[in-house]
Amino acid sequence: MTNDTTYRWPHKDLLDVTQLSAEDTLHLLDVAASFQEINSRPVKKVPTLKGKTIVLFFVENSTRTKTSFDVAGKRLSADTFALAKTGSSLNKGESLKDTGLTLQAMAPDIIVIRHPSSGAARFLAELLPCSIVNGGDGWHAHPTQALLDCYSLRQAWNGIFAGRTLLILGDIAHSRVARSNMHLLHMLGVHLRLCAPRTLLPAGVEHWPVEVYSNLEAAVRDVDAVMCLRLQLERQQAGLLPDLAEYSRRYCLSRQHLALAKPEVKVLHPGPMNRGLEISNDIADAPACLVLDQVSAGVATRMAVLYLLTTRNDGDLV
Ligand code: CP
Repeated sequence: MTNDTTYRWPHKDLLDVTQLSAEDTLHLLDVAASFQEINSRPVKKVPTLKGKTIVLFFVENSTRTKTSFDVAGKRLSADTFALAKTGSSLNKGESLKDTGLTLQAMAPDIIVIRHPSSGAARFLAELLPCSIVNGGDGWHAHPTQALLDCYSLRQAWNGIFAGRTLLILGDIAHSRVARSNMHLLHMLGVHLRLCAPRTLLPAGVEHWPVEVYSNLEAAVRDVDAVMCLRLQLERQQAGLLPDLAEYSRRYCLSRQHLALAKPEVKVLHPGPMNRGLEISNDIADAPACLVLDQVSAGVATRMAVLYLLTTRNDGDLV
């Protein structure tokens, strides 16, 4: 918790990390830390959100985000319900608006939405009175991924963000994870480097608060952490990468690269990983790799998000 006892979470929705102040972010990470302790108990359930209803509305595939929101809600005793595109009336052509209004009529407290279109979460937030959480929209934003990455880095870095250097490596152009992490970690004082082939850098990257590299050996030198991104093979139809073997040779993070970083360097990946393409097998399984810590942090962080959104007008936690 922040030391300021007058602090109150001010947001109805969580749509993008750009809406968060440093105070909001650190408070949320503190709340997540208190929930992480619950996750280590033999009985991992508290009655905090008993009677609350959370809809997991996933129009795009997900393993980590959907499951961890479901686990998070259940650990807080909320009722969670899942709606996917397959098996729903979206497949009969029902619009996002009508689907949202239909879900709202069942009086949920929170709808978590993942959608292939940027702006889908904001559209629902402006339409519906319940809280909306963006579980990833197009290339735009993935706020809870960035928050759980911050949680993992905060633990690895003993609470100190300022002055650290993070390299984000890979398919940045198509990555909502890169965009959300860039905003959040820059706000917390982390120096950011990007490394990718030119065709996988986003338009306007020269206006981002980052150093841009095309050579991985130069980019990784003396960094505190590397965040590998999944090469989004399903979005590569425009011929951006004619030769995957060449991509892997130049941009797959290996032991040789990590030897150039700080000795205590950590490796993150939002998952799912393409082993051997953006991250080597030995790095994916090395102690320096935080991938499974990130998944664990995802449950605690999403518990904090659900808690703060549903109790923003109530008193403080425990
Ligand atoms: N990192 C992430 O969003 O993973 P999923 O697509 O499995 O949810």
